[in-house]
Amino acid sequence: MALFSLVLIPFVISTDIASACQNTDDFVGASSPGDIVIGGLFAVHSEMLHPEEHPIKPVIQNCAGFEIQIFLQTLAMIHAIEMINNSTLLSGVTLGYEIYDTCAEVTKAMASALRFLSKSNTSKDIVEFKCNYSDYVPRIKAVTGASYSEVSMAVSRLLALQLIPQVSPASSAEILSDKIRFPSFLRTIPSDFHQTRAMSHLIWESGWNWIGVIATDDDNGRFALESFGVQAMANSVCIAFKEMLPAYLSDNTFHTKVDRAIEKIVKETRVNVIVVFMRQFHVLKLFKKAIERNVKKIWIASDNWSTAVKISTMPNIRKLGTVVGFGFKNKDISTFQDFLRNLHEKPTENNKFLREYIMLLSVCAHLDNYDFQMCISGQSQYDLMQNVENKHQIWRDDFLNANIEPGFIHSTILAVYAIAHAIKGQCKDRNCKDPSAFTPWELLEELKKVTIIDDDKEIKFDSKGDMSTGYDVLLWKEVDGRMEITTMAEYDPENGYFIFEDEEKKKEFLDLKKVPSTCSQHCRPGQMKKVTESPHTCCYECVYCPENHYSNRTGKEL
Ligand SMILES: *[C@@H]1O[C@H](CO)[C@@H](O)[C@H](O)[C@H]1NC(C)=O
Ligand SMILES: *[C@@H]1O[C@H](CO)[C@@H](O)[C@H](O)[C@H]1NC(C)=O
Ligand SMILES: *[C@@H]1O[C@H](CO)[C@@H](O)[C@H](O)[C@H]1NC(C)=O
Ligand SMILES: *[C@@H]1O[C@H](CO)[C@@H](O)[C@H](O)[C@H]1NC(C)=O
Ligand SMILES: *[C@@H]1O[C@H](CO)[C@@H](O)[C@H](O)[C@H]1NC(C)=O
Ligand SMILES: *[C@@H]1O[C@H](CO)[C@@H](O)[C@H](O)[C@H]1NC(C)=O
Repeated sequence: MALFSLVLIPFVISTDIASACQNTDDFVGASSPGDIVIGGLFAVHSEMLHPEEHPIKPVIQNCAGFEIQIFLQTLAMIHAIEMINNSTLLSGVTLGYEIYDTCAEVTKAMASALRFLSKSNTSKDIVEFKCNYSDYVPRIKAVTGASYSEVSMAVSRLLALQLIPQVSPASSAEILSDKIRFPSFLRTIPSDFHQTRAMSHLIWESGWNWIGVIATDDDNGRFALESFGVQAMANSVCIAFKEMLPAYLSDNTFHTKVDRAIEKIVKETRVNVIVVFMRQFHVLKLFKKAIERNVKKIWIASDNWSTAVKISTMPNIRKLGTVVGFGFKNKDISTFQDFLRNLHEKPTENNKFLREYIMLLSVCAHLDNYDFQMCISGQSQYDLMQNVENKHQIWRDDFLNANIEPGFIHSTILAVYAIAHAIKGQCKDRNCKDPSAFTPWELLEELKKVTIIDDDKEIKFDSKGDMSTGYDVLLWKEVDGRMEITTMAEYDPENGYFIFEDEEKKKEFLDLKKVPSTCSQHCRPGQMKKVTESPHTCCYECVYCPENHYSNRTGKEL
């Protein structure tokens, strides 16, 4: 049975999305003019396709792996800009946008960043070299993005040259808080520091101290692992094993490494809790194998996949045990949901992502549920072009809504609003219809001071350019045979504690404790620990204290 209602609509499908880049304007994913233009960088595709193993000619190639939830973030940016233009916030000054796909690749993102730096109002895209950019007017005034921290870091170095403000809704790596290295970078989410600390608190409070960690072997994964290691140690939690999986699926050791990770998990039976810092696609691959091997554990999800519908709808996902995750705070996004409902009425000529999505709907139309999900993310732009003729043109009404990851939609809208409020500040006594009215570096100064109202709460960037919006602690629960992602608690990063809405939620949390994940039993009064598996202080034997010594404390506090 189809999960989503189908609506037939008269779309005209053009096939030009597949020609990656003939001239520079082809390179833009979605755009709309305005007095002040904001750039966007999003990993709408998860990889770039190379005809050979390594690029030989310097040409930007097609991409593959359409990411619905990131496509939704580009729509959230557009929605926010349309709302601002249709409000009195900027009193007549209009915002435009230019959104580019990074395909999760640094090189592709750098090409877009280079374009952002090029001079405004010239027919050619020329980046002028200068020793002093104080008076320079680039094409855009600010950037929203990128998605992956690895990409944000690289782009930020380039944008810092002109001090163009960059506000990311998703890059959480701790290192990006360093304002000496990343002076023009800000974000509307907290740094991973708070997330890894929250995870360690959860683990400690549940009485677990012998756990496994699996991460993607890229900057995101490595930084998260390092940060988690420090936090775990501070909370006396020991890491029994760490496994890293290659960042690129094209790496031919990928499958062996997944197998090796699964073997580790199976062999280390005392470990029942596994922390997973991975990209969604990797989690899918890992879980597929884990389900085949009947692995049943408690999985702790990082923000990257804690709300991924693609994963929670996997067949047999409930056999894996329990998933507890951390996600960025979820707020009311009903106006965005309305926007999505009317999306099929929107013109598509200035939005390649939307055109591609419509083509994907047609190509995958014959499939249902999970297969449909996989089909959408499994097509390359090249295949699409070959495939699209003679297909029905359909619209699945609720598919986009079902795939929303609310935390990221909220952080994207916040990013645009923060920029708009800063622009308002700059335009107080200037004619902002003139694109050279103010420079990006002036906007950056304004942005650092901006206060916005979010759900009746005043929020602003802290001195590191982060927003401490907090986290939701999520629990994946089976309801009527389907996996639902529910909010179990809130985590207050400032005070480091969990807040429960009611007793029932509190009980869900306490229930987690019933599964142990420790290396050794707690020692009893009169006993002391003798460490057996150095360097792990969590593994010990309990031996009776020597004569004339005693301990009246239990193991947890020793
Ligand atoms: C506001 O901006 C959006 C996107 O740039 C544009 O489609 C719309 O026409 C603009 N509205 C006004 C009133 O300028
Ligand atoms: C713009 O604002 C008006 C009045 O607030 C509203 O009726 C209209 O639907 C809005 N349009 C869009 C595209 O949001
Ligand atoms: C853009 O450049 C053209 C000619 O190069 C000029 O006539 C026009 O006024 C410029 N527009 C702005 C907004 O500076
Ligand atoms: C850079 O250019 C601005 C504007 O032209 C000027 O005011 C400033 O003194 C210059 N800075 C340096 C260090 O040369
Ligand atoms: C999670 O993904 C985001 C991009 O969506 C990235 O910026 C962040 O660093 C990632 N975190 C980890 C721990 O991989
Ligand atoms: C252990 O002994 C100390 C000193 O006599 C006492 O203050 C403490 O309350 C005792 N703790 C427990 C758990 O019995």
